[in-house]
Amino acid sequence: MLNQLETIVQTAHAELPQLTTSEALIAWNSQYLGRKGEIPVLLRRVSELPKEERPAFGQRANELKQTLEAAYEAHSQAIKSAELAQALKMGALDVTMPGRKMARGRLHPSTQTLRRIYQIWADMGFQIYRSRDVETDEVNFQMLNFPPHHPAREMQDTFYTTNHELLLRTHTSPGQIRAMREFHPEPIRVILPGMCYRNEQITARSEIQFHQVEGLAVGHNIRFSDLKGTLINFVRRLYGANRATRFRASYFPFTEPSAEMDVECFLCDGKGCRLCKHSGWLEILGCGMVHPNVLRNGGYDPEIFSGFAFGMGPERITMLRHGIEDIRYFWANDLRFLQQF
Ligand code: DAH
Repeated sequence: MLNQLETIVQTAHAELPQLTTSEALIAWNSQYLGRKGEIPVLLRRVSELPKEERPAFGQRANELKQTLEAAYEAHSQAIKSAELAQALKMGALDVTMPGRKMARGRLHPSTQTLRRIYQIWADMGFQIYRSRDVETDEVNFQMLNFPPHHPAREMQDTFYTTNHELLLRTHTSPGQIRAMREFHPEPIRVILPGMCYRNEQITARSEIQFHQVEGLAVGHNIRFSDLKGTLINFVRRLYGANRATRFRASYFPFTEPSAEMDVECFLCDGKGCRLCKHSGWLEILGCGMVHPNVLRNGGYDPEIFSGFAFGMGPERITMLRHGIEDIRYFWANDLRFLQQF
C-alpha cells in the first residue's frame, strides 16, 4: 500500500509543474488531494493493513501528503501571479491596487482671509452689504468728493466701459453712497467687501484686480475715538491681543480727518526687518471720519449725523501674514501656490 502511495505521489509531483491554469490546478487537486481524490481514498484504506504496520504507514503517508500540499501551494501562488499579470496586461481591474488620489479642493487664500474678516466684523455687529462692481463715474468719484482733476480719475487708472459714464469700480468706497441711500435715515454699521479694478501695469506689487473690504458706521455722535477703538479692536482680533497699533495722519478726499493705521510688524515684533522695511510697522488700512459732503451725498445731514469709514486690502493682509512676495500669485491659478493654503 505504501508503494502504491509513493507511486501516486510521484506522478502527482511530476504533473504539477506542467499545469499552467487555475482550472488545471483545480482538476489536479481534486484528482489527488480532494476528498474523493486518490490519496485520501488510499489513506482511508489504512484499516486493511495489519495493526503493527499502521503507525509507520500513517507517518510516512502524512510526510508525503504534506510535501505534496506544499508543492501544490507554491505552484498555485505562481499560477495566480502569472494570471494576475496577464489580466493586468489585458486591462482588467485589479481591485488590490492602491486607489488613485483625488485632488482635494480648498478655499482660495483670499477667501480664507475674507471669511476671517467677515467673522470679526460680524461679531462687532457689522452686516455685509454687497455693492456693484460696475459703477457710475458719479458714485465712484464725484459723490466721494474727488476734486475734478484728482489723478485717480485719469484714464490710465480706471477701466471705463464703452460708455464713459460707466466704469469698473476702482475701490469699494462708492458702496458707502449706495448703502447710505438705502439705509437712510437709520444708523449704519456695514462692511462692503468686493473686487476692485485698476488699469495699471501688473507688477509684483500691483494687480489690475484685487479685493477691498470697506467699512462704514453712520449714526448720532460717532467720533474719532469710536473709529480708533473699533479698529484697534478689529486688529487685535485679527493679529492677537498684544499687537501694538498706531494711527498716522493721511489724506483721502472722502474722509476728514483721514488716517492710516499701522500694526506692529509681526515678523520681527517691531524690531525692524525686511518685511516692515526696518520701520517696525506695517500699514494695513486707510480710515477717517466720513466727509460732510459724502454724508450729504448719501442723504444724511452732517449737522445731525457723523460716521467713520475704513478700507483694507485682504490680499495685502494675506501677503503680510504668509510672507508672499508677489501679488500676481493670487490670480495666476498655479496649484503649487494655491495648495499651500
Ligand atoms: N478707497 C481707498 C483706496 O482705495 C481706501 C480707503 C481709505 C477707504 C480710507 C476708506 C477710507 O473708507 O476711509 O485706497
